[in-house]
Amino acid sequence: MDLKLLEIASLLVSKKDLDELMEEVLFRLREIVNADAGSIYLYHEESDTLVFKYTQNDTVDIIFKEFSLPVDENSIAGYCAYKKEMFFIDDVYSLEDKFPFKFNKDFDKLSNYRTKSIIMVPIFDAKDNLISVLQLINKKNTPFGKPITSFDKDVTVFNEEDVKIVHSLSGIIGVALENSLLYKNIEEMFEGFIKASVQAVESRDPITKGHTERVYRITYKIIEEMDKDDEAFPGFKMNKDDWKVLKYSTLLHDFGKIGVRENVLMKSKKLYDDQFKALKMKLKLYHCIENIDDNKFFEINELVERANEPTVLESELANRLDKFKDIRFKDNFGVEYRLLDDQEYKQLSVRKGTLTEDERKEIESHVLHTYEYLIKIPWTKSLKDVPKIACMHHEKLDGSGYSFGLKEDEIHIFGKVMAVADIFDALTAKDRPYKKAVPIELALKIISEEAEKGKLDKKIVRFFIEKKIYNML
Ligand SMILES: [Fe+2]
Ligand SMILES: [Fe+2]
Repeated sequence: MDLKLLEIASLLVSKKDLDELMEEVLFRLREIVNADAGSIYLYHEESDTLVFKYTQNDTVDIIFKEFSLPVDENSIAGYCAYKKEMFFIDDVYSLEDKFPFKFNKDFDKLSNYRTKSIIMVPIFDAKDNLISVLQLINKKNTPFGKPITSFDKDVTVFNEEDVKIVHSLSGIIGVALENSLLYKNIEEMFEGFIKASVQAVESRDPITKGHTERVYRITYKIIEEMDKDDEAFPGFKMNKDDWKVLKYSTLLHDFGKIGVRENVLMKSKKLYDDQFKALKMKLKLYHCIENIDDNKFFEINELVERANEPTVLESELANRLDKFKDIRFKDNFGVEYRLLDDQEYKQLSVRKGTLTEDERKEIESHVLHTYEYLIKIPWTKSLKDVPKIACMHHEKLDGSGYSFGLKEDEIHIFGKVMAVADIFDALTAKDRPYKKAVPIELALKIISEEAEKGKLDKKIVRFFIEKKIYNML
């Protein structure tokens, strides 16, 4: 028996995931004392309540529903937490007078069960604070795991030996549970920090508000479906760590935008507002000084306004810009102006979109910033690939992407999926004032074309479209 206890103890401390740990604890304890059922309550200090969290039953199927109980003398679990004492009862339907509570038969009635013998165990952390209450139900004299056929014959009472064993394990359960709760707290804190970071990034660029969360949802759904589909993606299986890597790298993929200047990030016209106003003033000055006729003045004005829009610059407009570029005039103080200076000309002549080559590079640098920031976080071993993967969402299979120009076999599968999700969201996002949302059909067509051109992963794109994953979000 001692060996068995040792085995359980080492097993418990090696598990970090709270749910896994608690299910394991419950199962092992039930096994060791041959209990048909069991439950675990977690103690919530702020509300001084017990929350019903885990339950197992070998005889009836239980529809789990979380609920909480006050820590007082009115229920078995509440009493155990209140007294901070271990106790056992032979039959909860005929309670001794020393117990102030009444047994609640609701569960038994609902599920056609008969709760008889129980052991109640309070669990404490290293500082002796209550953290949980454990309940083992119906000791059996039939083999462990076998459903009860007769509550009269199969169920027996717990004995001192059972209490001793459970007691000897309760300490190590406390340590394991405390560790796991701490780990969960740290993880929650970290996730909170990530959410705050995403918010910080997106508050600088309201145009792409919600983008991160949506890319995460799309990526998650595609991966989830891939994981389920053994025919289309044989051998692709996600484990718990993989899901975390996916989550963090997706949520942080555009974190580096924090290092890109705000006006570049939000540029909605080819000229920045102040540039545009200054140019208009210059045109007015030119109008007055050179005494050009009104029609021509309007024409120049209109040309500048049209060229300033983010739409594709028609060649007719481009040619006319060329002509204006070299016009010079002097004001009354003899200061010489060019109707369009080099910078204005350069910006207005952008063929597509609003960004000059330098600005485009600056925006693209967000990926490198993402990497530089994320690499500073001391990731645990299982999360060490997060910075790399977060930076793969603009890579293209043919090596034409940025920032590293990675090729197909160098891009992590999460990066490939993220690339599809990122483009899909950029196309279909509804909240961009200067860019109309593309209808889904067209977005899918564009993505397919990108896949055909060898930019995006064909298999993933086909899967996304055929499975209509965009409708599952
Ligand atoms: Fe990005
Ligand atoms: Fe993105």
